[in-house]
Amino acid sequence: MPNLVLGPVIGGLSHTTVNLWGRADERALLSAWLGRAPDLSDARMVGSSLLVEAAGFSGKVQITGLKPNTTYHYALTLNETPPKPENAPFPSFTTAPPPQQPTDFSFAFGSCFLPGAVNDGATLRHLAQLLPQHDLRFLLMLGDQIYADLWWGNGLGKIALTEEDYRAVYLHTWGHPAWRELMRRLPAYMILDDHEVDDDWAWTSADRYEGRIPWWDALVRKFKGFPAEARRLSHRRIQAALQVYWEHQAMHAPPLLLPPDGVEFDRPLILPGDHSHFAYTFEWGGAAFFVLDTRTQRVYKHRLLNRAQWKALEDWLLQVKDRYPVKFIVSSITVLSDLWGDFTRDRWNGYPDERRRLLHLLAANEVQNLYLLTGDLHSAHAIEVTLQTAGKTPVKVWEFCSSPFEQKPSKLLMALAKSVRVHPITDYRVHFRYSEPNFGVVHVHFSEGRPSVRFEIYGDSGPAKSAVEA
Ligand SMILES: [Fe+2]
Repeated sequence: MPNLVLGPVIGGLSHTTVNLWGRADERALLSAWLGRAPDLSDARMVGSSLLVEAAGFSGKVQITGLKPNTTYHYALTLNETPPKPENAPFPSFTTAPPPQQPTDFSFAFGSCFLPGAVNDGATLRHLAQLLPQHDLRFLLMLGDQIYADLWWGNGLGKIALTEEDYRAVYLHTWGHPAWRELMRRLPAYMILDDHEVDDDWAWTSADRYEGRIPWWDALVRKFKGFPAEARRLSHRRIQAALQVYWEHQAMHAPPLLLPPDGVEFDRPLILPGDHSHFAYTFEWGGAAFFVLDTRTQRVYKHRLLNRAQWKALEDWLLQVKDRYPVKFIVSSITVLSDLWGDFTRDRWNGYPDERRRLLHLLAANEVQNLYLLTGDLHSAHAIEVTLQTAGKTPVKVWEFCSSPFEQKPSKLLMALAKSVRVHPITDYRVHFRYSEPNFGVVHVHFSEGRPSVRFEIYGDSGPAKSAVEA
């Protein structure tokens, strides 16, 4: 008998669709049941999906034709027996409001989860506790949803090298009870950062033939006696990591803007010279989101996004600028925070021309009410910058950062933070920083069509640690 070993995850939620995701331990038929009653006494089977070995027995049931702003209860089963009402209550999700309809809402975001590193899931348990109070509609997960390379914390005891290894790391990390309990209740949108593949990795050339990791990682791994394949980053290993990334994080996302060939068979091909990426957009009432893929087209010291993703971002910005009162650009890595002595150059600071290009894009188009959401730093912050424009009104851009859910907080990094002083930034202000495990909560409020946005940071217990009205 097959078992559901990971999931459910509520992915790709829009005002009419949802992807219910799960992973089994063997070949199975995944069925999704939906109803309006909390005990699912009215449930009907809305779809099923065959979980096959080629996709690591992961799959999603894609459900369409839902009503906006409507709460549905659901169950995933590996047989065709309807869920029993005595097992109530069943988890639920609420669909998004119709696009462009300004409706108040709140969501959470964060990044970096290495269970056992600090507080054994306490941050996620705290987030689950606060769901009713804040009526959180979804969670944005900004990367490092696993740490494939941290042999001491990934459940493998070694560095992930093959598809089977990467799948085992997901099983270990996402199998944590705090993670599973949260994910079945809170719809999620995910994007990768570096550790889904390896630490601070990038391609060595635009051919995407092979990758590289920092020399100090290679040195430590040599010292530890890890095999040669763990001390370099072969195309084969990146392909394996991104295959398993697809299986767990991307297959249930909203439709990708330019997906790699092969995703229709759940086998994305990471081909040399290919332009595809994993970026996507979604809307939530009066708010539009662009979720950047800052990793899979990155070429070390050469480019962060490829031309295809830049074009997609620019087109999106012009489309949503006036139609959506609030805009969020989601970047796994920080745009507006620099560090003294940051020799890794793994963030937007390593690609200064592209960072200026992004800021100029916002300034030239006078994009108001735009917020950057980011993670990665193992500390949180709220930063506000003013951009000089050709017109009379300057543009204000905010960066909200939340990291980590659970990882060693970097107090030193926080002390080394420095401001970004590049054109067209004329004013730079840090509202707060926080360096314990945390998640962010964003409240979007509309009054007479005018938006206001509040950002709060929560630790693993207690009230908000910091907050700012942006
Ligand atoms: Fe991280």
